[in-house]
Amino acid sequence: MARTCTSILLIKVSFWCCVLLLLLWADSAITSPVPPKSAIASAHPLATQAGFKVLRQGGNAFDAAVAVAAALAVVEPAGSGLGGGGFLLLHQASGRDVMLDAREKAPMAARRDMYLDETGKVIPGLSVDGPLAAGIPGLPAALVHMAEKYGRLPLSQCLAPAIRLASEGFVVGPRYLRQVKRRFDILQGYNQTAAIFLQHRRMPRPGFRLIQKDLARVLETIAQYGRSGFYQGWVAKRLVDSVRQEGGIWSLEDLRRYQVIERQPLEGDYRGIHIVSAAPPSSGGVVLLESLNILSGYFIHRLSPVTIKHLVVEAWRRAYRDRALYLGDPDFIAMPLSRLLDPDYAAGLRVAIRQDRAMPSDWLNPAPEVQEGADTTHFSILDREGNRVAATLSINYLFGSGFVAQGTGVLLNDEMDDFSIKPGVPNIYGLVGGEANAIAPGKRMLSSMTPTFLETPQKVAILGTPGGSRIISMVTLAVLDFAAGFRPSLWVKWPRYHHQYLPDEIQFEPDALSPSEQSTLQTMGHRLHPLARHYGNMQAILWDKNSGQVEAASDPRGEGMAIVE
Ligand code: GLY
Repeated sequence: MARTCTSILLIKVSFWCCVLLLLLWADSAITSPVPPKSAIASAHPLATQAGFKVLRQGGNAFDAAVAVAAALAVVEPAGSGLGGGGFLLLHQASGRDVMLDAREKAPMAARRDMYLDETGKVIPGLSVDGPLAAGIPGLPAALVHMAEKYGRLPLSQCLAPAIRLASEGFVVGPRYLRQVKRRFDILQGYNQTAAIFLQHRRMPRPGFRLIQKDLARVLETIAQYGRSGFYQGWVAKRLVDSVRQEGGIWSLEDLRRYQVIERQPLEGDYRGIHIVSAAPPSSGGVVLLESLNILSGYFIHRLSPVTIKHLVVEAWRRAYRDRALYLGDPDFIAMPLSRLLDPDYAAGLRVAIRQDRAMPSDWLNPAPEVQEGADTTHFSILDREGNRVAATLSINYLFGSGFVAQGTGVLLNDEMDDFSIKPGVPNIYGLVGGEANAIAPGKRMLSSMTPTFLETPQKVAILGTPGGSRIISMVTLAVLDFAAGFRPSLWVKWPRYHHQYLPDEIQFEPDALSPSEQSTLQTMGHRLHPLARHYGNMQAILWDKNSGQVEAASDPRGEGMAIVE
């Protein structure tokens, strides 16, 4: 009898031990597993391969990010580069999130009216073309910071693939040729730019090999001396001399003082999805989270596709208006972030949204119009330890300012154009606006870059895209697709629509709205603006912790490559 009792007891104890072990295993599988594979999605195959090279050498996601960013600076010169900046969202496997703010800064000699003539009119092109349009670059400082603080390999090892690509060259693809065509005049306008990016000063032909020896030397100098390799010494001197010779206002002191800032990313929740995204001076996280807060009040899955589109547009209308009214560099201005991100504030905005009518933007309190470059680049990385990077980098318009500093191969940004060039002057509605984003010496210009992480107990996503002010609407649509359970290959591919408060119109890619949706939206009072061109170049990764599957996708609109290995 006693033996039977002991056996029963043993069986019971074993059973409960098994249950406990299973629960512990399930819990750890949900809360802290490591990905079975690593993944990189970037806008160029050579950049994705550069990242994997470094991962295979024992590097982590941050080392790979240095390699990918530096390679993109070489192989996708129209979108980002050492002469530009960006925002890099990092997640350490320990659970810590941080945003590296590598946004360009206005030089100390910048003035709020520097792009206006004596009558107060904007001088066309001055904030877009040439060295006066360039802010002090942040990307080189970010690469060094990331490698030294978060990476595992020496900086020189992470920069090696980019150095080789720059010195040996690579054959450009059709996308490069299309980009050159769009900025041909400005590229031809500067000898040193034309010598690098054109072929005998003419449109390059298919098969053109882009060799950038000077850029390779600058990368080598950074590899050897770190931050001071770019912000001091011969590179800094050449940058400043060259900029000043052509009418720019940089000083050696501007470069010496540039610092990357570690900022706390913005966080919010939408239908059980935890969102981590870019903080100011990018407007990306604020507009994304405010839009999603507004949308969280609807049972979206129960609505018709056209009603969903209408409500998404109405949410953007309000969030983009707040962007224009309130946002700028947090080191210079106070912003009502806790109000803008409060679900009750969103609920107040939602009350004024009708499900059957568009509200004209000029019925809302007027704010200045958003105008931004439409280019830039993005890459996403996940390593096998669970570290992640979502980085959106930019030199603003295609090929930035078009100006290469003599002897450096560094193509300078035209990010100064992201400031409100004409603040304090009444806009078309008679109101003064844009003060939050007015030019000031040493200030960072407002951005729309939206590198983002999404997380549920089962899934992790890493995503972002170029596309100027449309970046935020593209990321919003991807969050909605993620929430609906779609795969990243669809987030990056599906046709897109956009609204940004002003101009008061829904811009949309071919096929984004069916003919019947177009007529319904018009009946609701929306103005439609069909776009001839596709936009965006999303790079996304999804890790499903339950199934252990890692997927990565590169936008078919671009020439990028996603690898899972
Ligand atoms: N220049 C594009 C952005 O910062 O959003």
